[in-house]
Amino acid sequence: MTLPRQQAFGRPAVLRREAVAAVVPVAVAALLAAASPAAAAAAAGGAPGVGDPYFTLAGNGGYDVRHYALTLGYDPGSRHLDGKAVVTARATQRLTRFDLDLKGLKVTGVTVGHDKAAFRRDGQELVITPKHALREGREFRVTVTYAGKPAPVTDPDGSLDGWIPTDDGAFVAGEPQGAMTWFPGNNHPKDKASYDITLTVPEGRTAVSNGVLLGRRTAHGRTTFRWRQAEPMAAYLATATVGTFEVERYRTADGIEVYNAVDPREAAEAAPVLKKLPSVLAWESKLFGPYPFRAAGAVVDHAPRVGYALETQTRPVYDRAPDLGTLVHESAHQWFGDSVSLTSWKDIWLNEGFATYAEWLYAEQHGGESAQKAFDDLYARPAADDLWAFAPADPGDGAHIFATPVYARGAMALHKLRTAVGDPVFFRVLRTWAADHRDGHGTTAQFTRLAERLSGKDLDALFRTWIGTAGKPQRP
Ligand code: TRP
Ligand code: ZN
Repeated sequence: MTLPRQQAFGRPAVLRREAVAAVVPVAVAALLAAASPAAAAAAAGGAPGVGDPYFTLAGNGGYDVRHYALTLGYDPGSRHLDGKAVVTARATQRLTRFDLDLKGLKVTGVTVGHDKAAFRRDGQELVITPKHALREGREFRVTVTYAGKPAPVTDPDGSLDGWIPTDDGAFVAGEPQGAMTWFPGNNHPKDKASYDITLTVPEGRTAVSNGVLLGRRTAHGRTTFRWRQAEPMAAYLATATVGTFEVERYRTADGIEVYNAVDPREAAEAAPVLKKLPSVLAWESKLFGPYPFRAAGAVVDHAPRVGYALETQTRPVYDRAPDLGTLVHESAHQWFGDSVSLTSWKDIWLNEGFATYAEWLYAEQHGGESAQKAFDDLYARPAADDLWAFAPADPGDGAHIFATPVYARGAMALHKLRTAVGDPVFFRVLRTWAADHRDGHGTTAQFTRLAERLSGKDLDALFRTWIGTAGKPQRP
């Protein structure tokens, strides 16, 4: 499911680039068709990336994924993964060739529809040539069988991302790039889809994914878990975390199905925090509008190599027992980042600034320090501090998308907005944002326009200063 066109291209730079990419091949193909049918056919390949300036090969052009059905088997002892991915997609142009993102692993077969398809590997691209060209608008189904020992990617900021083996299984988190380390797909948040993820692991281990657990079955010493993520999800938010876990299941007063899986080594420390999950979700629902998914929960792993938590959809993964602030943060991402997705990694402050501000609000409303105090303490930092190194809405490259300005200064910008428009309008903006873009996408330009529309104020200078300009603003 890709967003409608106008929504996708909030930024003029991308508009130009995408417009060229979309228009030129058609024109060229038409010209070439007269001269040489073979050359025209070659021009009908899907692009190897969606045009993200920070991750140029992320995602692919030419199609839009509707659904992933992944059937995986993992053996933590040998670290071997067997996979079958059935990807249902719609061609958004005529396609004689298209790519899926997949890094490492060995592909043993590809079919498109009922026909075997030719394929080759080219870095992170799995290049597929179907037997028959796909007409624009046509829905098609690609089946990829693969196997091997998945390994994480190292991101530009040095962090590990993707399938990260642990001593009892694997910690699986894919932001921003790692989904391609364990399944072939359109690895960019612009293309969201529903997922069915079926995982088989040795009996005694638990395999946890997104959404609702449909069933669980043990036979011949192996247990199969069937998970369904019905609401659209970006690939980076998929998980398939495996380990020895204690499992807890219940339904909240709002009817949300909770499934928590906790590494016994983290259980004592995690328990008092996890107990608060329903009240955190209820509090956030009051502030941000209805919780966007039918399922919730947490995976608390013991994964010292990882060093971060991730807001995997419906069920965040934590590399250790989280503190309450982290639980509030990952939960807030379910609205901001998961339900409302990015169209470009450059806009990452729409995820991290919002989730950080949720932590400030939680503290303020639960006997902790006020958001104003958090703002003032940050503003007191000297001009040379990393906090002011770049503008939150312009991290510059993929190495800085998780840096301090994105989180802390992004939250400061929201606090400035709140004090400028007042609480009633500010919280209406947050709720309208979550409602209008639910299960979809949002851009920075759309957010600032919404804030201006609902407040009736010209907020140009405020946003320019607080999200668009590097350096410490002269006035708090
Ligand atoms: N999005 C995560 C959060 O804020 C953080 C995250 C994901 C991260 N991958 C990372 C942070 C890599 C640092 C490095 O909840
Ligand atoms: Zn975050």
